Amino acid sequence: MKIGILGSGTVAQTLGAGFIKHGHEVMLGSRAPAKLAEWQAANPRGRVGSFAEAADFAELAVLAVKGTVAAAALKSAGPQRLAGKAVIDATNPIADAAPVQGVLQFFTGPNDSLLEQLQREFPAIRFVKAFNSVGSAFMIDPAMQDGPPTMFICGDDEPARQAVRAIVESVGWGVADMGAAVAARAIEPLCMLWCIPGLLRGEWAHAFRLVKPA
Ligand SMILES: NC(=O)c1ccc[n+]([C@@H]2O[C@H](COP(=O)([O-])OP(=O)(O)OC[C@H]3O[C@@H](n4cnc5c(N)ncnc54)[C@H](OP(=O)(O)O)[C@@H]3O)[C@@H](O)[C@H]2O)c1
Repeated sequence: MKIGILGSGTVAQTLGAGFIKHGHEVMLGSRAPAKLAEWQAANPRGRVGSFAEAADFAELAVLAVKGTVAAAALKSAGPQRLAGKAVIDATNPIADAAPVQGVLQFFTGPNDSLLEQLQREFPAIRFVKAFNSVGSAFMIDPAMQDGPPTMFICGDDEPARQAVRAIVESVGWGVADMGAAVAARAIEPLCMLWCIPGLLRGEWAHAFRLVKPA
């Protein structure tokens, strides 16, 4: 599959390299593609371009930019280039204010989410939340005790969720499909929970797993 990733940070670079390793074609998009020269040298089969070029390239896209600028990055890409496509939304609505005793501050309230805001603003794009509640070091082929961890996903479009499920499973995760976009109100704060041990004690090596009775 051709995967276009809007972003140049750790998440974009990690997912890009990981998807290439798993046989996909990847283009990373940035306002300043030159900053990705090192990534491209390390991933010669990968491509880099502008946000618009990555969106055009994508059969499936990934949004991996700072949460406060998620809508701006989509506008800069040209939302019509992503119309009808599944877009993995890896962003979190982290506010610029400092964490409080290890707890990140969000710019969304409890009865809203960044995914829903984006879905409302760009109704033709089929957003699916995924990869937001684990550190980049564990996004691809996580080797955890007792087997694969759980990636919680959600989004309004079921075929898009199915497509994302297949990709997420192919890079070493179990998937728990939480249904419609509104479930992002619960999935996005998992990022807060995931970060607490890191911000309090420097412990960043963990992931969530949904366990069920034997
Ligand atoms: N870091 C993690 O381990 C992790 C884990 C899970 C989820 N996340 C989430 O994933 C997202 C990406 O995280 P990250 O750490 O890789 O990168 P980041 O530092 O949060 O974001 C970097 C990206 O934001 C873009 N950006 C910044 N200002 C912009 C603006 N004004 N307009 C358009 N784009 C702008 C940059 O674009 P340019 O390339 O043009 O500079 C760059 O691609 C975040 O929402 C984060 O919360 C992160």
